[in-house]
Amino acid sequence: MSEIKVDPKQYIVKDEPYYEAVNDEIELYQSAYDVRMPMMIKGPTGCGKSRFVEHMAWKLGKPLISVACNEDMTASDLVGRFLLDKDGTKWQDGPLTTAARIGAICYLDEIVEARQDTTVVIHPLTDHRRELPLDKKGELVKAHPDFQLVISYNPGYQSLMKDLKQSTKQRFGGMDFDYPETELEVAIVTKESGVDQAIAEKLVQIAHRARNLKGHGLDEGISTRLLVYAGQLIAKGVAAEAACSMTMITPLTDDPDMRDTLNAAVQTFLG
Ligand SMILES: Nc1ncnc2c1ncn2[C@@H]1O[C@H](COP(=O)(O)OP(=O)(O)OP(=O)(O)O)[C@@H](O)[C@H]1O
Ligand SMILES: [Mg+2]
Repeated sequence: MSEIKVDPKQYIVKDEPYYEAVNDEIELYQSAYDVRMPMMIKGPTGCGKSRFVEHMAWKLGKPLISVACNEDMTASDLVGRFLLDKDGTKWQDGPLTTAARIGAICYLDEIVEARQDTTVVIHPLTDHRRELPLDKKGELVKAHPDFQLVISYNPGYQSLMKDLKQSTKQRFGGMDFDYPETELEVAIVTKESGVDQAIAEKLVQIAHRARNLKGHGLDEGISTRLLVYAGQLIAKGVAAEAACSMTMITPLTDDPDMRDTLNAAVQTFLG
């Protein structure tokens, strides 16, 4: 039986991912990494969670393995499985096992989407044991000293059916993320989209209006990601109204009244 080997270098983040610190999150994360504390990054969609983790992996010089979780994901998808090919049986590590072996930061995006029987495989890796039993293979993987597990969590989407068990939650340190305050968000939109500062300011003001509608007809406000999208189109020469409609209204809601309200906000600032 042979094994498939991976080169840790392929997971190294080579170029600095642009990240504007909102608070003291870089220092706090650094301290958490120093003691290899598993971390939970909480916050709404498109507020910079993934970008932050990419930036930290780059800063720490550690490989980063990201996994988008979903409800069809099984423990084997994370841990690994036997594969059959013409030469016989091969064991293939899953992304979690690879990360534990090579000492990567393993980022499980939207962990609540995974079923609880999948989520529990991270338990022995996220307490003093720092090990991962590969039951099917009969191997106990001891995590590399550099290994760290990071999960993201969008507090808006949780229901009783979809939440992490306390025994999972209480294995992590947590950090709250939110959309950056005005000046910073303007700087981010300017830098990421290439639009000038005056336009970026208007886009951020529209977003503030929409964020106030969260829970009053909107499930989520307009994210920083969508503001960057709007800016990118405007920078390409698309008319501001069309760009905003395409990126900041259509994806967000199908409710005609809510669309009118958002359109009015766009008109107020960009009309
Ligand atoms: N602090 C920041 N510094 C630099 N860019 C940022 C920052 N916050 C947000 N962004 C911008 O917002 C975009 C979306 O951020 P990101 O993909 O990290 O969101 P997320 O929180 O991971 O969202 P999701 O929960 O949907 O995965 C980034 O591509 C980047 O352009
Ligand atoms: Mg993300």
